[in-house]
Amino acid sequence: MVKLWNQEPAQWRLELAAGDGKPLSLRTGETGRTLIVELGGKPTLETLRRACAKAVKTVKELGGGSAVLDASQLVESLGADALGALAQGAELVCHKQERWKETKDEPFALYLTGAAGAEAERVLQEADVLIRAVCFARDLVSCPANKLTPQDLARRTTEAAQALGIETQVLSEEETRALGMGAFLAVGESAGHRPCLIVLRYRGGREGAAPIALVGKGVCFDSGGYCLKPGESMPGMKGDMAGGAAVCGALLALAENKIPVNAVAVIPAVENRVSPDCFVPGDVITSMSGKTIEVGNTDAEGRLILADAITYALEKEGASRVVDIATLTGAIARMLGHTTAGLMANDDEFCAQLLDAAQRGGEQYWRMPDYPEYKAMLESPIADLSNMSNDGCGAIVAGLFIGAFAGDTPWIHLDIAGTGWADRTRIEYQPKGATGAGVTTLYELCKALAE
Ligand code: BES
Ligand code: ZN
Ligand code: ZN
Repeated sequence: MVKLWNQEPAQWRLELAAGDGKPLSLRTGETGRTLIVELGGKPTLETLRRACAKAVKTVKELGGGSAVLDASQLVESLGADALGALAQGAELVCHKQERWKETKDEPFALYLTGAAGAEAERVLQEADVLIRAVCFARDLVSCPANKLTPQDLARRTTEAAQALGIETQVLSEEETRALGMGAFLAVGESAGHRPCLIVLRYRGGREGAAPIALVGKGVCFDSGGYCLKPGESMPGMKGDMAGGAAVCGALLALAENKIPVNAVAVIPAVENRVSPDCFVPGDVITSMSGKTIEVGNTDAEGRLILADAITYALEKEGASRVVDIATLTGAIARMLGHTTAGLMANDDEFCAQLLDAAQRGGEQYWRMPDYPEYKAMLESPIADLSNMSNDGCGAIVAGLFIGAFAGDTPWIHLDIAGTGWADRTRIEYQPKGATGAGVTTLYELCKALAE
């Protein structure tokens, strides 16, 4: 809980020192129960998120249940947004992933003094909505596959959306077959848990204005299919719907904050499993766009379902822009690590807007190259495309494969396979587990596109 306050009822005092000490190093004050975090020079909003998270975590570890922080100087130098960043740091570090055993979560209260008024209240309210959206996404991602089938994902996302007045539609397997979504179905039919296409339409903008489509990979479990993954890399594959969780979280935040924009979230929800007659390597399938695809590898399933979801977003939802977000490739983590996600774009201006949004959202993305040589790596001798590269560059070609279905529509691809799940804390406000990657950036992007 983060509150504006004008007294000091708390156990601990936090100070964020704008000195030039080692960034985020900790020291205690001269009078007891004061914790000082060095910001290492002039802070940004992201430094505040991290510093506040580190301070709150430390106080909690020392057994403290509340703290007070005088935010007046931070607001003076960074504006009221400083309050939102402090709240995000404090709340996101405290969020505990859902568990199925008895545990106790100690509540924590952070009181912010030296800031009051309507603008401060507004910033904290907006931040609170975003925090809950990130935690909603985290909870979905950490939910085990036996408790989150594609139908469960549809229920949980549509219930949350309907509560905010968002229009929802869940296309059944039969309905997607009628639309010719053969790439989506090749994957979806591999599992006993039936696939579905989740569509959430938020209309906060001008009536009739074409929406931006946020298309999120919704693989509730990725076994690899017949190209079976090794045992040790399978448990994490319950989180292969992190892109779907991100687009839903972002849409919920847009709706709750009443941002004047039209946005549609499209989540192809499937499991990638093994069944007696499901797709196998070498198969040729026909996508909704009409393009044929040779399946080089059944474990490259994300791009198959996203290809059809993008065609759906363009043809059926009339999207004027598309962002896809997916835990798409192991290669992206080898390329960029676990704190920067991959980006591919076919439009420089749209790309710049996304990178600006990421900065406000406290996330890092790096644009990958799209030279023609990479496209050639997806050529198939018997179909329009192969779903696997014949020459490496896994993260790049995966993005390019998806881009082939966006055509000339401004399109961005975000590969969050490295950033969606933290096996340990690297960013102070991200505890071990699901990170909620993408939510803040997509929210900020749509907000920037609003009228
Ligand atoms: N879901 C995985 C990617 C992934 C890997 C996500 C690690 C999170 C952590 C994806 O479907 C996959 O299996 N990709 C393959 C593609 C390959 C077969 C061309 C990969 O990255 O190995
Ligand atoms: Zn896979
Ligand atoms: Zn996958």
